[in-house]
Amino acid sequence: MWKFKNPIRHLITDTRWPTAADAGKSLLYRPIRIGPVEAESRTWVPAMVPWRATEDGFVTQENLDWYRRFAKGRPGVLVVEATGVRDISSGPLLRIGHDRFIPGLRKLVETVRDASEGHTRLFIQIIDFLSVKRRPEREKYFARFLQVSDRHRLALAEVTADSAWRNAVSERVREFLNAAPDDVLERVLDERELESLRFGYREHVTDMHLPHIRELPQVLPNIFADAARRAREAGFDGVELHYAHAYTMAGFLSALNNRKDGYGGPRENRMRLPLEVFQAVRTTVGSDYVVGVRFLADEVIPGGNHLEDAIYFGVEFARAGFDFLSLSKGGKFEDAQQPKVGQAVYPYTGQSGYECMPTVLSDEIGPFGRSVPLVAAIKRAVNDAGFATPVVATGGISTFQQAEAILQNGQADIAGFARQALADPDWFVKVKLGRGDEVRRCTYTNYCEALDQAHRPVTCKLWDRFELNEPGIATIDEGRRRLLAPEWKA
Ligand SMILES: Cc1cc2nc3c(=O)[nH]c(=O)nc-3n(C[C@H](O)[C@H](O)[C@H](O)COP(=O)(O)O)c2cc1C
Ligand code: SF4
Repeated sequence: MWKFKNPIRHLITDTRWPTAADAGKSLLYRPIRIGPVEAESRTWVPAMVPWRATEDGFVTQENLDWYRRFAKGRPGVLVVEATGVRDISSGPLLRIGHDRFIPGLRKLVETVRDASEGHTRLFIQIIDFLSVKRRPEREKYFARFLQVSDRHRLALAEVTADSAWRNAVSERVREFLNAAPDDVLERVLDERELESLRFGYREHVTDMHLPHIRELPQVLPNIFADAARRAREAGFDGVELHYAHAYTMAGFLSALNNRKDGYGGPRENRMRLPLEVFQAVRTTVGSDYVVGVRFLADEVIPGGNHLEDAIYFGVEFARAGFDFLSLSKGGKFEDAQQPKVGQAVYPYTGQSGYECMPTVLSDEIGPFGRSVPLVAAIKRAVNDAGFATPVVATGGISTFQQAEAILQNGQADIAGFARQALADPDWFVKVKLGRGDEVRRCTYTNYCEALDQAHRPVTCKLWDRFELNEPGIATIDEGRRRLLAPEWKA
């Protein structure tokens, strides 16, 4: 995990919780219209991958239990984890790339509806991602993956001042490079080959030599549209198009996207595919269905998008007719730490990853609502352009006072609680009932995120060892971790 040089440890300080009467009068608990639906409160649980689907991407009993647990807390909106739009294998992450996934997803919808007694609106985040391979062993990379070309031979002839390399057989080039020191590799391999060696092979949206990448603008609108149709058929109240973090659509929006086919370069071109995907989704699901977007207020990487880009995108997304704008920050591959051999690069290990899920070991600004000023600037621009599209702020929001102030100050329309909801899914109902002092406060130290990085079922350190002998509870790791937060006895 990336760390500040001289981090300041921020405390989880006491907060004043409202009485039930005060909560009832607050903006946070006032309903809000999100396109064609109304959410009962301005509270929101953003997407969080819990690593509970089957290897084939189907909904499991553990998924149902996980979302039931959140639904019992009755947030205004609950967003189901990033769910793959394609019919390709992707490990235990939910998928919506074929009609065979609909029955399981429908069950999930019914589960949430029952558990929240209809009080929570349920959206599903839909995602496309490109191929990311594990970091290879050095020998394997040179023996099997490097495509030896004359470029390498010429570079070797130059580096070694030995022209015999110009005609060397591939085997000889592979052997030499496998034993070569870093400075030689850096002169012989290109940037992408070095990346594949050091981080594992990863596709970029700019890989125009690969037909399936070149054709993304032709195929993705229909793939997303079909996925959104399935979401509607399964009964979700809406879809959230995942245009954030390290994935395909964020790659198109990124300032690093220099595609020359009209889908890269200037901002208008970078947002062309994201808008075409939206139009295809909208045409398929109709105007009476919620279609929102999650995108980045700042990519937090050198050469990446910053606030001015996000402001431009936010206004154009609102103009296009998105029903909500949910902001995140960072979470990119470009600055991720080098993974161990055999592991895949994780896009939340660099500074951009810190900004996505900030911890209490921070700078003087601290982790609490640190991206709110960016969200506020985006909301202001959207509103100034004449649009009332609701804007969701997330990132280190954990107390009523903080969330209410963000809304009262007009910095956002809805407050998102990801890790705080994981720490205590009952936050929303507890605070509403005037029992905020019973909230289990997130400590923002990212034990949960480490589990996500290891692709292990996500739990929270504040409750996963609690009353492990409670009859009937689901556990993992030979009974050492419970999978769900204990029930709150209201
Ligand atoms: C375990 C875990 C999984 C996450 N999965 C997703 C995801 O699927 N999609 C997404 O947009 N964000 C994901 N996030 C990011 C959160 O939605 C949220 O933006 C981030 O945790 C910051 O908000 P917080 O400070 O309230 O936790 C995940 C975060 C965590 C901790
Ligand atoms: S594991 Fe830590 S950071 Fe994650 S939800 Fe629990 S308390 Fe918060």
